[in-house]
Parts: sequence; C-alpha cells; structure tokens
Amino acid sequence: MTLAPLTPDLSTSLVDVRGLVKEFRLPRVALRSGRPSVKAVDGIEFGIGESETYGLVGESGSGKSTVARLLVGLTTPTAGQIQVRGQDITRLRGSTLRVHRRNVQMVFQDPYSSFDPTATLADSIAEPLRTHTSMSKQAQVARVSELLGLVGLDPGYRDRFPNQLSGGQLQRAAIARALAVEPRLIVLDEPVSALDVSTQAQVINLLEDLQKKLSISYLFIAHDLSVVEHVSDRIGVMYLGQLVESGPTEAIYERPAHPYTSGLLDSIPVPDPHAQRERRALKIRGDVPPMALRPSGCSFRTRCPFAMDVCADEEPQPFVTTEAVTVRCHLHFHGPRLLGRSVRTLLSPPTVGAPDVVSAE
Ligand SMILES: Nc1ncnc2c1ncn2[C@@H]1O[C@H](COP(=O)(O)OP(=O)(O)O)[C@@H](O)[C@H]1O
Ligand code: SF4
Ligand SMILES: [Mg+2]
Repeated sequence: MTLAPLTPDLSTSLVDVRGLVKEFRLPRVALRSGRPSVKAVDGIEFGIGESETYGLVGESGSGKSTVARLLVGLTTPTAGQIQVRGQDITRLRGSTLRVHRRNVQMVFQDPYSSFDPTATLADSIAEPLRTHTSMSKQAQVARVSELLGLVGLDPGYRDRFPNQLSGGQLQRAAIARALAVEPRLIVLDEPVSALDVSTQAQVINLLEDLQKKLSISYLFIAHDLSVVEHVSDRIGVMYLGQLVESGPTEAIYERPAHPYTSGLLDSIPVPDPHAQRERRALKIRGDVPPMALRPSGCSFRTRCPFAMDVCADEEPQPFVTTEAVTVRCHLHFHGPRLLGRSVRTLLSPPTVGAPDVVSAE
C-alpha cells in the first residue's frame, strides 16, 4: 500500500517546530478575578529529519505530552508554527488535516487505556484503515496480519482482547496500529515507561528495526535520559515548558552544557560501584514547581546549584555551541563564562561542591 505524499517536499526536515506556545486557561480563583493561565509549552523550536529520532526528555509536568498532542493535531497552539514537509499544519482544516493525521500517528504511554477493552486486536489495529482508507474488508484482514508479523506478534493474536495480552505485547499492537496507514512520523509518548526493563529493551529494539525497514521518523518522549540515549539522533531537554538544551545526542551526553541536563544524566546510576563513587555528579535538589508558579528569570533557578543574581532577573538567551548544541543558561555569558563548554568543568570530584567556583556578577 502506498499513500499519497502529504505535500511537496519544501523543507529538508520532515518536521520544523518554530516558536511553539500552548497556553492553558485555568479556572478563576475568585469571583472577581481574571482567569489565570499557564504556558505548558513556551516558545520551543526543534526539527526532526527523515528517518530520524528526536528524543524529548524532561521530568513530569515539563510539557512533553502537550508537545506530542500539538504535533498530532489533537490540540491547537496559542502561537508558533509546526511545519511538516514545509506545510504549517496548525492552519490545516478539513481533508488536509485528515491527511496530516494519517501521516503523523501516536503511541501512548499506557497501552491498556489506549485500546478499547471490548474490541479485538484486529478491530483496533484496523481502525485507522477504516478511518483513512477505502480498503476492502478482505484487504484489511490481510493488512492486520502483515502488521502483527511486522511487530513480532503471532497473527493468531488478532482475535484476542487487550486484557489477554501482556503490557509489552499490547504496546507492540499499539505500534502496529500506528503503522497501519504508513505514517511518516510516529509520536511515541513515553512508550516504554509502563513496561519492565527487559520488555522496554525489546520494544526499543523493535522500534529501531522498524525505523530501518520503513524509514520512519520518531519523536520519542521519555522522562529519563537513559531511555533515549541509544535511539535518538538528537535530543531536546525540557523544563517547565521550555527547551533548556537541544542538539546532537553524543555532544549532549558527553558534554552537557546546562545544569539540568547534567543533573538528569548524573541521576542515572553507573553499574560499576567504584566509578559511581568517583564520578563528578551534579545533584538537582527538590521537585519541579507547578507550572503556575514558574520562577522569574531562569525557571530552573530554584533548583540550580549554580544560580546567580542574574538568573532571577533575566531569562537566559540561547547560546549555540561549536557542536551545534543550543543551551539556555547564564553560565555561558556570566560568572564562569562557559561559552559553550560543558557545565561538568565546574564540578569537582567526587561530588558537587562547585557552586563556590561560580562567581555571581
Ligand atoms: N488541559 C490542560 N489544562 C490545563 N493545564 C494543562 C492541561 N494540559 C497540561 N496542562 C499543564 O501543562 C503542564 C505540562 O503537562 P504535560 O504536557 O502533560 O507534561 P508532561 O507530559 O511533561 O508530564 C501540566 O503540569 C499542567 O500544568
Ligand atoms: S541560568 Fe542560572 S539558574 Fe538557570 S541553569 Fe543557568 S546558572 Fe542555573
Ligand atoms: Mg506526559
């Protein structure tokens, strides 16, 4: 089956996100007060190339699922553009929106709640075929068998119900359903977070194999940097609605330029206990504040061991490093003036102790 191309290929990227903002209005707190609002997504920018995986990472509440929903068209942005092959999908309506929905599919975190418990797997997997194509019943049956084989499930599973499958098997079925109409991009919103570690590895391997076979692109969302390291070509680290660091995976993992990225990486345990003891580690204190109470200036400043006076007063502007990493942190312009170097250069072994090497301006 071959689907019609979405639009003429105007851009080199499959997806190009520019200045994306999503603001939610909250309920009125008092009768006479105005309605407060939160920016769940606040001016983010990234691109995803053909056959590429972009890993989007951040703790719970950072706005990742809102980005996912914006990309698949489940919600509309307050501002900004999402170009898919050069076409701004935020302005699509009617049949062109339907074509977009076919080309960008989604896999959710919890496979059990993303399937109708009363429908067989075959019925659920064929649902996008019924919505987006005029395929005959017979062709749908054949396509479902093909898809089950593609994701490593026995075609005999077609008549099973979701509660007769394990979480890993059902997530494979969710991937089959997403693949049914040959999308160009699959948005994977924490696709392995609900699975045990060995099943996580199997599902990630499956996704990698499918990408090689089908040349599809992924937006792979996770709350843990260790999950996306091996699958992502590029990474974006989100904090309270903003991308604080983004760029090529290897540069970010080897030389994190933002304290939040460094802290997230350092929270991943190292298997060797000696290396674990000896390594320079940055500990992030506390929890993510609610979106409605976002701190002034740099939103990470209430948890950052390097915070300076300027961090409370001014939002950090982007700094682009020689490795094409974009980082938003005053440390690159003020204090130690890192100018793109890794924030790890400020850490002394075996643990943090580095805030005193940062001179506030
Ligand atoms: N429909 C909504 N109405 C109001 N606020 C919302 C809504 N959806 C998300 N938010 C806000 O956006 C924040 C980010 O949510 P989400 O995108 O689900 O983050 P993540 O997936 O990173 O956990 C939430 O903490 C919440 O404050
Ligand atoms: S801008 Fe300041 S508070 Fe924010 S991450 Fe950088 S040093 Fe820390
Ligand atoms: Mg989420």
